[in-house]
Amino acid sequence: MPTADPLKREAPDSLMLTGFWYRALPSDRVKRGHLHKAMLLDIALVIGRDRTEKPFALRDACPHRGMPLSCGRFDGEQVECSYHGWRFEAQSGQCRLIPSVTADQGLKVDRIYAGNYGCEERDSFIWVFVPDHGPASAGFTRREQPGSSAPAVPTFSGRYKTAYLRADLPCSVDHGIIGLMDPAHGPFVHQAWWWRSRHSIHEKQKQFEPIPNGFRMSAHTPSSNSAPYKLLKLYADADSITTTIDFVLPNLRYETIRAGKYWFSSLTTVTPITRDHCRIDVVACWNLFRWMPFGASLLKFVFAKFVEQDRRTMELQSEGLKHNPHLMLIDDADRPAKWYFGLKAAHLEAKRTGAEMKHPMSGPVTLKWRS
Ligand code: FES
Ligand SMILES: [Fe+2]
Repeated sequence: MPTADPLKREAPDSLMLTGFWYRALPSDRVKRGHLHKAMLLDIALVIGRDRTEKPFALRDACPHRGMPLSCGRFDGEQVECSYHGWRFEAQSGQCRLIPSVTADQGLKVDRIYAGNYGCEERDSFIWVFVPDHGPASAGFTRREQPGSSAPAVPTFSGRYKTAYLRADLPCSVDHGIIGLMDPAHGPFVHQAWWWRSRHSIHEKQKQFEPIPNGFRMSAHTPSSNSAPYKLLKLYADADSITTTIDFVLPNLRYETIRAGKYWFSSLTTVTPITRDHCRIDVVACWNLFRWMPFGASLLKFVFAKFVEQDRRTMELQSEGLKHNPHLMLIDDADRPAKWYFGLKAAHLEAKRTGAEMKHPMSGPVTLKWRS
């Protein structure tokens, strides 16, 4: 018998997991010499590129009296606050000048820092590392260095195409993420003549296994009820097509499809912007159909349709969620959502106690559902 348990209402800080990299802005939006605003985990940021094109991220509040630094001037190296002209090194946030200080006052301006963040450019995005102990807008310390680099889309050959897509979702990051891993909405939300209809619904069985900080839907030959997969098999002349989908905390969904020498790989993230607003960003790379002049646009078109269907659905859902209805998650179709909440709880507990994280899955599991 499937059991129904109430969808746990998340404690405030579990919506905003710190100590991770997050996608902040698409690379092509960030122009050299300009200051751009971005919001991440309820933190207002100012993002830019220095003279050497290297990106940087500062808290968008001057450590003096809070003026947004994005209103200031930027010379390619230092950001100058528009209120009293304090100047900060863009890359480190270190203060270099306080114009009002006289020579005999001896204030050590370089002890002052604007809140600053680890920042990397990867796969068409500027990523920002949000540390556990976030820099206050006013501080006297350098930033916490991230222990790893920003996540990357896995690629499997030298030459490939790439595209990205994004959509704003008017819901909390939790609903964004469980909406993404939910297998049962497909036949109802993603109907299209070239994909599948609600009449193609049938029983499925998938293998899942625990991986560090997440879980994997193990490689398998994808469902035969959709035309694109049939086509792909024919085209790649491959005996089998394998798909692997990994979910990894805090918000990463890796999907890899391999058919002979052809591959498709994507990294989707759902980023908390504020408590009730998140954004979905998909970056895809592939060497399939590389010879097709409109390969990229076709893929983007298909992708955009999917994301738009999800966005529209979550927009409608947010209406229903406005008044805090009681919700439930059922087995097996909502089990991945339960693992997600379990992973987050285990992660936070491990942080609290300093002990090793206890994974919510004890081993491989087979789930069954109809979709
Ligand atoms: S508020 Fe920025 S210099 Fe005073
Ligand atoms: Fe979907």
